[in-house]
Amino acid sequence: MSDFTLSVIARVAFGDYVKNESDREIIKNAVMEFFNVAEKWTTHSSLTMPKELKDVYQPKLVKFSDFITDVIRHERQAISQGTKSNCLLSQFVSLKDDETNTYLGEREISPVLFDFFAGGVETTSMTLQYALYVIGTNPEIQEKLYEEVKNTTDDIDYTSIQKISYVEHVLKEVLRLWPAAPVNGRSTNDVTGAEINGYKIPARTNVMVNTWKIHKDPRFWKNPEKAIPERFEQKNHPCAWGPFGFGARSCVGQRISMLEAKIALIYLYRNYKINFIGDTDPGYEWGITMKPTRPVVVSIEKRI
Ligand code: HEM
Repeated sequence: MSDFTLSVIARVAFGDYVKNESDREIIKNAVMEFFNVAEKWTTHSSLTMPKELKDVYQPKLVKFSDFITDVIRHERQAISQGTKSNCLLSQFVSLKDDETNTYLGEREISPVLFDFFAGGVETTSMTLQYALYVIGTNPEIQEKLYEEVKNTTDDIDYTSIQKISYVEHVLKEVLRLWPAAPVNGRSTNDVTGAEINGYKIPARTNVMVNTWKIHKDPRFWKNPEKAIPERFEQKNHPCAWGPFGFGARSCVGQRISMLEAKIALIYLYRNYKINFIGDTDPGYEWGITMKPTRPVVVSIEKRI
């Protein structure tokens, strides 16, 4: 699954510039290094990566930075020849600061694009793995999903996919049961702190919001442990479901991840019956993301 989600983000970010397996390896290794370090980061109470970890991590990004520098150079050339690419990097390369009359360079573009990989590869991959489990253990969900997607064709686009609502409800239910980023952090400001529902929070305090706990709160969710996609047909409290966070710093990848996961499920389930055949459920462990502790083992049968 991570290969699929990596390919999607790589295509969106770099378009045709990711040409072969060795380019993909550079991106994959950078993401893996991030998660290796991120596991250690969760034992610190800091919302930004501590310096001692940054010092270990940054040298490992050299190949990724070199790759981006190279792509930026090629894209500048392409733009000057009127053959601009249709990728996110190209949009960044074209951005000009009118005050200083300068364009964004590798230093600005590289960390932003890297955030997209760090934020978008594992999260969507985990969500799809848990989706296989939920759908593969609930035949009634699988049949309803199949009925909805069986007549879709390859020309699905952004508008037509919005009408395919059950797939979206299934994904929302999966993200409720296993929010890929289960805890979100915020810091209060430097001077006044904050007051929420009578609770005073001092200035410069890190506050962790446990999204997973909210997703299981019986005040908002009846029978919270059970997978019931239909619950998303009803309105609920606006903050009862928040796998992508809230407010100005919420997930920038929410739309693309829902879109890519929906497309993956539509293509899979209109062609195949996929049942879970593992001995036990996939479990979970918390780190910077929530992930299964056991593989999601499935059987795949072609539909005729
Ligand atoms: C199921 C998939 C995903 C989940 C559950 C998820 C969840 C989250 C959450 C909870 C946050 C923090 C929000 C907050 O603090 O309020 C976040 C931030 C972020 N996500 Fe995602 N995400 C997903 C997919 C993606 C994808 C596909 C991308 C990139 C294309 C992405 C890029 C980012 C970035 C760059 C941030 C940092 C935003 C900022 O700090 O301003 N995410 N994500």
